Amino acid sequence: MSKIELLNQKLAESKLGGGEKRIEAQHKKGKLTARERIYFLMDKGSFEEVGALVTHHNTNFGLEKTKFLGDGVVTGYGTINGRLTYVFSQDFTVLGGSLAQAHAEKICKIMDLAIKNGAPVIGLNDSGGARIQEGVVSLGGYADIFYKNTLSSGVIPQISGIMGPCAGGAVYSPALTDFILMVEHTSYMFVTGPNVVKTVTNEDVSSEELGGASTHSTKSGVTHFSCANEIEAIENIKRLLSYIPQNCEEKPPVLPYEINIDETRTVLDNIIPDNPNQPYDIKEVINGIIDKDSFFEVHKDYAENIVVGFSRLAGRSVGIVANQPSMLAGVLDVEASKKAGRFVRFCDAFNIPLLVLEDVPGFLPGTDQEWNAIITNGAKLLYAFSEATVPRITVITRKAYGGAYDVMNSKHIGADMNYAWPSAEIAVMGAKGAAEIIFKKEIKTADNPEEKWKEKEAEYSEMFANPYNAASRGYIDEVIKPNETRKKLIRAFKMLEKKTVSIPKKKHGNIPL
Ligand code: HXC
Repeated sequence: MSKIELLNQKLAESKLGGGEKRIEAQHKKGKLTARERIYFLMDKGSFEEVGALVTHHNTNFGLEKTKFLGDGVVTGYGTINGRLTYVFSQDFTVLGGSLAQAHAEKICKIMDLAIKNGAPVIGLNDSGGARIQEGVVSLGGYADIFYKNTLSSGVIPQISGIMGPCAGGAVYSPALTDFILMVEHTSYMFVTGPNVVKTVTNEDVSSEELGGASTHSTKSGVTHFSCANEIEAIENIKRLLSYIPQNCEEKPPVLPYEINIDETRTVLDNIIPDNPNQPYDIKEVINGIIDKDSFFEVHKDYAENIVVGFSRLAGRSVGIVANQPSMLAGVLDVEASKKAGRFVRFCDAFNIPLLVLEDVPGFLPGTDQEWNAIITNGAKLLYAFSEATVPRITVITRKAYGGAYDVMNSKHIGADMNYAWPSAEIAVMGAKGAAEIIFKKEIKTADNPEEKWKEKEAEYSEMFANPYNAASRGYIDEVIKPNETRKKLIRAFKMLEKKTVSIPKKKHGNIPL
């Protein structure tokens, strides 16, 4: 056999992973192989593999007889829509994609290259966790990855696709990354699986119910995207990257866009109902403002009372945070605060300007909220907005009540431009509740308390159920017609393009975790 033949033989062996039979078993489960995933993810012909000939060096339990070239993870670099991207893709056909020391070292090598060259890392996870035969060295391998995930956080974007099992400590690498995408019915994430749960808590629960895509996209919020199949997950990763810069030193890519600066969007004039207590869908407002079809929602099915996602205004990336009046009246609660706070911090870390659409009746009252630390969790959102240095604009479409007014990117916590529609109501609370408190005595002693209450409610409403009081103080920069919102925002974000802010010198802040 010639030297070239030997090389070709080794490369072919590496490409086969755990072999034909296991590849077939993988397909039978409705899953793609590690290499097929990379094929669909990267630009055609752009993938360069690194470490195809790596093997483990373990001899425990006869493991020396079970060596596979590549050791259960395909690693390398290539381009996605022409932009450099690093990838690791675990190969379940090799010892269940389990993580050995050699496997971890391959992932770490790719992460090191990514950080040195300032480009995103995509991890495609499909693994039975730590390679049990290796013992502590595989645990060490995981910890090496966690450490690098943390050092890379806020420097380069990190995205985790969960394409199969992800159990034990293995879940913590994805949890440390910026975005998680799961595939419905073929992927799951949990710290301990159903058997351990049964032993410890005596609960009977399936893998899907405990840690499937539906659970984590609705109940826990662990995953940002629940995808119908692997191809959808891969397409979502590509779309996500299109809004994001390569690293924290760069700006997001700008799409070519023909600007009609005077464009009015009359559809926006008819969304807010006459009755202030009637719900409407804030996504209609979002779509009325942004470039056509550019909204990419994040965490769609979790804490639906707040909507977050990426979009474009005249071709430029903008992160949107919007209260959703059609869900729990758009109230801020524990989950909404956590969801929005994390999104704001991601946008700020990667130079993505923020647009806030505000219609919020306040924080949700109740024992459930207080006992689940709405104080600490609400403070997360407050902190996230306050420390954000990217261009920040707020549009109050209707209600801006109480502490929620302050928290939702108010002027006072550093927003650059604050607009209100004529339908805005900016006050400490709704007129009915306010009248009941401040005119309590008058209402109680009146001949007709009901009438008196209504009269006082109207009085308070006239004073505060509008944007003009706030505008007279300069808390609102301009009251604008809904149809001119897009135009105003494009101009204002352009004006803020070179914004710089100097913050007090510190090691790092102490966000209320
Ligand atoms: C070594 C493993 C393995 C592992 C699977 N395999 N997991 N080998 N270490 N962790 C091997 C199997 O022996 C099998 O080999 C092949 O991979 C496919 O596994 P199956 O069980 O046949 O596949 P399936 O029925 O689809 O089940 C997949 C699975 C199951 C649910 C992931 O394999 C499983 O429960 N594995 C163990 C999960 C686990 O407890 N991991 C440790 C978590 S603790 P053959 O040769 O038969 O094909 C952990 C600590 C990390 O990860 C801590 C970091 C802080």
